[in-house]
Amino acid sequence: MRSLVAGNWKMNGLKAESLELASDLAGRARSGAVCDVLVCPPSTMLSDVGAVISGSGIMLGGQDCHALESGAHTGDVSPVMLADLGCSHAIVGHSERRANHGESDAVVTEKAAAAHKAGLTAIICLGENAAERVEGRAKEIVTLQLHGSLPEGASAANTVIAYEPVWAIGTGNTATPQDVTEIHDHLRGELIRAFGDDGNAVRLLYGGSVNAGNASELLAVDNVNGALVGGASLKPDDFWAIVESGRPD
Ligand code: 13P
Repeated sequence: MRSLVAGNWKMNGLKAESLELASDLAGRARSGAVCDVLVCPPSTMLSDVGAVISGSGIMLGGQDCHALESGAHTGDVSPVMLADLGCSHAIVGHSERRANHGESDAVVTEKAAAAHKAGLTAIICLGENAAERVEGRAKEIVTLQLHGSLPEGASAANTVIAYEPVWAIGTGNTATPQDVTEIHDHLRGELIRAFGDDGNAVRLLYGGSVNAGNASELLAVDNVNGALVGGASLKPDDFWAIVESGRPD
């Protein structure tokens, strides 16, 4: 399957540096990218970054979306607004939102359904924390999160799953290829259980301290169909090295 390498810029980037990063990546993408590339800037920069990457082949995504299309929800961004700005994807259920904003699986399901309704591909994030891994509960936790966060109508065409073990995010403690193989193989089985054959076509991304040095071994793992990159996505050379580690088909 063709890889998707997605950069989650998180709450980083003022105007000048965001535009510089976007135009650097767009320049590289115009000469051809090995795989699919997505950038998810903060919502303040979606419009401007969208203009800079337009025509380069790089796709644009939001880092979150509300479950409703509009209304009295101060500070929130709706999936319809993301689509209106040219986004093709929305990340939902990132562990930072689950932790900082108390988002439950039920909320993540509603957000994913709303993203679908707006024509966006939902990137649903899940992953165990350090204590859960030590207790040997990683598979149990991701299974619960997966089935608890998939809305009705989810399919390979509108849904991407990102396995991001919380203990690997921003820590430099990347999961080993063995850890990733075990969880991704398990998730693939669960996706097939949920969707039948279509479960084979759902992209499964790995995220958590992916960098230029470890991307090729992680992206070479069976059932790893791309990466969701945080810190390294802010450095164009590093991010592009990760893109170049992706598979064309
Ligand atoms: P890091 O790559 O900085 O560990 O972040 C991963 C992540 O949370 C991407 O969504």
